[in-house]
Amino acid sequence: MATTTAKKTAKPAAGPQIRRTQLFIDNHWVDPIDGGSFETYNPANGHPIASVAAAGAKDVDRAVRAARRALESGPWSTMDAADRGRLMARLADLVEQNADELAALESLNCGKTIADSKGDVEGVCNTLRYYAGWADKVEGRTIPVRGNIFCYTLRQPVGVVGQIIPWNFPMLMLAWKWGPALACGNTIVMKPAEQTPLTALRMAELAQEAGLPAGVINILNGMGETTGAAIVNHPDVDKIAFTGHVDTAKIIQKAAADTLKRTTFELGGKSPNVVFADADLDAAVAGAFHAIYFHGGQCCTAGSRLFVESSIREEFVERLAEKAKGRLIGDPLDPKTEQGPQVSQEQLDKILHYVQLGEKEGARLITGGERVGTDGFFVQPTIFDNVRDEMAIARDEIFGPVVSVLPFEGVDEVIDRANRTNYGLAAAIWTRNLDKAHLFAKKVKAGTVWVNCYHVVDSNTPFGGFKMSGQGRENGEAALEHYTELKTVTIKLG
Ligand code: NAI
Ligand code: MG
Repeated sequence: MATTTAKKTAKPAAGPQIRRTQLFIDNHWVDPIDGGSFETYNPANGHPIASVAAAGAKDVDRAVRAARRALESGPWSTMDAADRGRLMARLADLVEQNADELAALESLNCGKTIADSKGDVEGVCNTLRYYAGWADKVEGRTIPVRGNIFCYTLRQPVGVVGQIIPWNFPMLMLAWKWGPALACGNTIVMKPAEQTPLTALRMAELAQEAGLPAGVINILNGMGETTGAAIVNHPDVDKIAFTGHVDTAKIIQKAAADTLKRTTFELGGKSPNVVFADADLDAAVAGAFHAIYFHGGQCCTAGSRLFVESSIREEFVERLAEKAKGRLIGDPLDPKTEQGPQVSQEQLDKILHYVQLGEKEGARLITGGERVGTDGFFVQPTIFDNVRDEMAIARDEIFGPVVSVLPFEGVDEVIDRANRTNYGLAAAIWTRNLDKAHLFAKKVKAGTVWVNCYHVVDSNTPFGGFKMSGQGRENGEAALEHYTELKTVTIKLG
């Protein structure tokens, strides 16, 4: 409580109604055959808010069969591509009409501020509309070949896709996965994160209302090791799209090898955010603050390695610390709140563990480092200075509001150090020097590079990682490749 204004809710604010907790299979709400149930919590106070159905292997099998039927013989299989797009656009309209409710439900279950949740809902609409537009533009080619031959290619759906998503952007990750999958005509068996099961169920309800045929979208909540693994191991699932921890991706890739499923992964990061002395410092301070503290640092792209040119380091850290101390932490449903709770006890413990490690390794704690209050999972915005590249806090993904400040002297040095990580999701540079910016953009090993901005992500632009930050790309045209199989048709002419 020492350094931040902590306004905590004793009682949960009047929350949104929880309409659905069952499994959604073949456009029906059903109880598990062999699964069970689990509690989902409000991270702002640690209290349970609902008991949610968990799918077992038999439920996964039911959902996969429904998805297979929809793919091979249902109305979805013969629907005009343009009509698929219209259904997706209708879903986006319904999301927009229910934006306030969806945002409140997201904030209640995930802890993100209501403003952030509203931003996510907007992102959901943008993504669905963007891919709705693609539905009738997924084209093959005609290829001139030797002989009296007519040759063309078709892009066809990969098939039944298993989609496993995390808790940090529950609805947005859902949309990033539904969008390209539906545009390309696939059918979906999705497992939301066990921490945040609720908005996916509401989205399923809206998908049905929009007119998506039975079996096209199936939502199975449950634990990763059971429900998630059953989806990954199911022989009739053609592809797994996963967002989460790199170790989970390794497990999934090994399991997927048995059936040679296609896999795409969007994993973590330890993204370098590099500030040169010649930058617009007001913008850079605000940008570095947003880079690490947006959604309490629970972003795969969080700017957690803050490289600051030595000549401005002291002033920069001071200004950043001042902002951090003034951050308003509290009930995510209160519109004044700037930072909500971390998602779970597990994440809270992980963050506090890294704070201890940082101090033990000799980094200098400038501000923060403590839990806020005793109920709910709130952490102070935290800054470590005097961090060295080899320290755990500079190497590991903390996934919380903890930034490591690393001084540097020159552009070649900082590029080299920025790249010394197994991750490669995002990177940013703050400078007025075009040469430095271009050199950095070319040399840094990251799927996304920001120049004088941070966390600018659009449904229209490819997103994904180099190295252990992932495989494949989501968003933009790039995602379509991962949701289609390419077929070559060769016709001998008379
Ligand atoms: P996780 O990777 O365990 O969970 C992500 C999803 O995978 C969840 O739906 C989970 O149920 C599922 N899952 C877990 N084990 C599985 C398995 N064996 N087979 C199939 N599915 C499985 O991540 P977790 O435990 O929630 O968070 C741990 C750390 O992972 C975080 O502290 C953070 O560092 C990182 N993370 C990265 C994210 C990103 O956006 N790249 C998102 C969430 C977490
Ligand atoms: Mg896990």
